[in-house]
Amino acid sequence: MTSSPLPPTVAETLAEIPSWGADGASDHLLTGLEPGLNGFLALVRLAAAVRENQHELARSRPLAGRVFAGMFFDPSLRTRSSMLVACAKLGAEYLDLQPDSSLWTLEFTDEVVMDGVAQEHIREAAGVLGRYAQTLGLRAFPTRGQWERERTQPVHRAFAEHAGVPVVNLEGPMAHPCQGLADALTFQDLLGETAGRKLVFTWAPHPHQGLMAVPHSALWAGSSLGMDVVLAHPEGFDLDSEALDEGRSLASASGGTFRITHDRDDALAGADLVYASSWGAISGPEASRSGHADAVKSLRDWKVDTADLSRGKEAFFLHCLPVRRNVVVSDAVLDGPQSGVLDQAENRVWAQTALLLHLMGGVAP
Ligand code: CP
Repeated sequence: MTSSPLPPTVAETLAEIPSWGADGASDHLLTGLEPGLNGFLALVRLAAAVRENQHELARSRPLAGRVFAGMFFDPSLRTRSSMLVACAKLGAEYLDLQPDSSLWTLEFTDEVVMDGVAQEHIREAAGVLGRYAQTLGLRAFPTRGQWERERTQPVHRAFAEHAGVPVVNLEGPMAHPCQGLADALTFQDLLGETAGRKLVFTWAPHPHQGLMAVPHSALWAGSSLGMDVVLAHPEGFDLDSEALDEGRSLASASGGTFRITHDRDDALAGADLVYASSWGAISGPEASRSGHADAVKSLRDWKVDTADLSRGKEAFFLHCLPVRRNVVVSDAVLDGPQSGVLDQAENRVWAQTALLLHLMGGVAP
């Protein structure tokens, strides 16, 4: 089946998205900051237009004959399935790569004698995949204890350097850009006008040391939408300092505000959105596995409960999922009317459909 023209609103919104790859380079999305503030907001508008015109769009099959390759070095439910669904909606094929079971072990270091375990170098692996697919997606979590190296997302950068086609970060050490796009759409869905509305992004207890990618991307999303963003976490659980600077800078550019507090009650007062996430410390006593476990024991009251959603205003609850019930957040919140977590997960489909449309040349012939 061939493509047909895009729905007019989708075509008009798509045309507003700038290309951000410098000097003819591909439009990689490794942090989500690459499109710039206006490009990010245009992608969110496109996600809404795609959702609004989903049936007409699916009939037009704008990406028929094109291939997206998804590679997950770490587990996923939502990201992998929502990418599969996004491809299906656009008429594209999804090439499912499972590095643990079906790919050669990769070497990432240049000018190395490959006489160890690795069978294939990233230069050939990425280059070959770039000949098979028009966009690559990649999930690779950080190695703990090496933040200075991991914060640069070296695995993602290596694929981007050698693929010759756009590479999308499907969650890495610093960012989860697809989650950030979906979160921005969800903030708008729940609040309508987001400018000046209060987004509280709060740390929550978890037995494991979670990643900082979702916090960074969600904070950037709220800051891009002109929200009053409050990051609340216990002492010792600072996020990446440059990521926080990005949040401040986006808030300043969009007319929002950005502040950090260790006072949970102060943060939650008057919240419109309460978004919880669990992450581990970068340094200090809480950064070790046992230090984290000890810290969490005394921080269990950071779990989100129903009372936390009505501190002066009725707030919605958000979480990227997966979530540990009654550790991070109570059943009553997740099953209650103020939970937006399923809408948030659904919006992954619309955000990624929009992104693929831009990256894979969705203007039908
Ligand atoms: N939120 C999110 O990225 O979910 P998965 O880890 O299941 O992909």
